[in-house]
Amino acid sequence: MAHRFSTLITGVLIALLFSCLINLEAKHSVKSIHRRSYNHRRKNQDDSSTNIVKAQSNPENVFITSNNTIVTAQAGGTAILPCIIRKSNTGVVSWIRRHDYRLLTVGLLTYIADNRFMVEHIRHLQNWGLLIKPVRSSDAGLYECQVSLHPSSSIFVELKVTKVVAEILGAPDLHLNAGSTLQLVCSLIHSTEPPTYVFWYHESRMINYDSGVTVLPNHSSSVLLVHDVDKSHNGNYTCSPSNAKPSSIYVHVLNATAEEQPAAMQHANASISSTNRKFFNFCLIWPVLIIVVERKRTR
Ligand SMILES: *[C@@H]1O[C@H](CO)[C@@H](O)[C@H](O)[C@H]1NC(C)=O
Ligand SMILES: *[C@@H]1O[C@H](CO)[C@@H](O)[C@H](O)[C@H]1NC(C)=O
Ligand SMILES: *[C@@H]1O[C@H](CO)[C@@H](O)[C@H](O)[C@H]1NC(C)=O
Ligand SMILES: *[C@@H]1O[C@H](CO)[C@@H](O)[C@H](O)[C@H]1NC(C)=O
Ligand SMILES: *[C@@H]1O[C@H](CO)[C@@H](O)[C@H](O)[C@H]1NC(C)=O
Repeated sequence: MAHRFSTLITGVLIALLFSCLINLEAKHSVKSIHRRSYNHRRKNQDDSSTNIVKAQSNPENVFITSNNTIVTAQAGGTAILPCIIRKSNTGVVSWIRRHDYRLLTVGLLTYIADNRFMVEHIRHLQNWGLLIKPVRSSDAGLYECQVSLHPSSSIFVELKVTKVVAEILGAPDLHLNAGSTLQLVCSLIHSTEPPTYVFWYHESRMINYDSGVTVLPNHSSSVLLVHDVDKSHNGNYTCSPSNAKPSSIYVHVLNATAEEQPAAMQHANASISSTNRKFFNFCLIWPVLIIVVERKRTR
């Protein structure tokens, strides 16, 4: 009777151990999926480069630049609409804005009374690019590069204008312990050019050049590092790029004492979190109990 009872207990304990292990495994795989999708998003954001040009098929004869080329530029930045013609062509090159059929340029002359438009001519390349600087959202649309031959020949270039958005990772709140390094990453989403500057503010004070502060520039982000933080570093941090609306985050510096530790620290930490660790310890108890019960049984 006692023998059968202890066998039953062993069975139950083994079942519990298995459910523990399966649960741990599940928790970990969910975490790694999260991390993977996050990395994927970051990679896509970083894919922007200056004045993205997407070319399609190559038309015969007159033009080297592909018809229906798409150019992407950020509002406030510079757009260059390409129009490269073959060397054998001697016709005059004009640019026409299609939505209102305005003649913008003829040869090297700008016709429109708007000095944001200009021809960027590179003679030996036969390039008659249309330069728009600074680009506005309202400039988006179709442009026609026309070569006055008999008959005249045209290609179209589509301009897309993006708005850069600044975003601080981890916003709106970040908690960290006194004595650690505060790291804030300000991502510039939809940017096609690096900003000329990114200013960081603590409350209303610019801190880029403070001692203990490092700002790492990057073509589509800015990283702020504040070393050895204490309570005086509490508060509102704002990332203000030259080409985007500012973005803010609230930083809470905690005394590294036990009673001040909040239940849920918002740290990025690669090690097992405290709830996970408790669960892990709980799982480790079962094999020990099984051994004890088995010993008793065989005795
Ligand atoms: C470019 O495409 C437009 C239509 O999208 C067409 O009217 C034009 O003839 C094309 N140009 C060339 C050089 O093929
Ligand atoms: C820009 O930042 C990303 C991620 O923060 C990094 O991988 C990359 O090396 C940085 N590029 C430069 C030029 O610093
Ligand atoms: C942080 O500062 C910015 C700029 O001064 C302000 O727009 C924002 O409302 C502030 N945020 C908080 C939570 O105080
Ligand atoms: C944090 O720690 C400092 C120095 O150890 C102490 O002066 C301060 O009162 C503490 N603040 C809180 C809110 O406990
Ligand atoms: C983060 O991990 C480090 C070691 O990897 C550990 O010392 C620290 O206590 C951890 N922090 C939290 C909040 O779990």
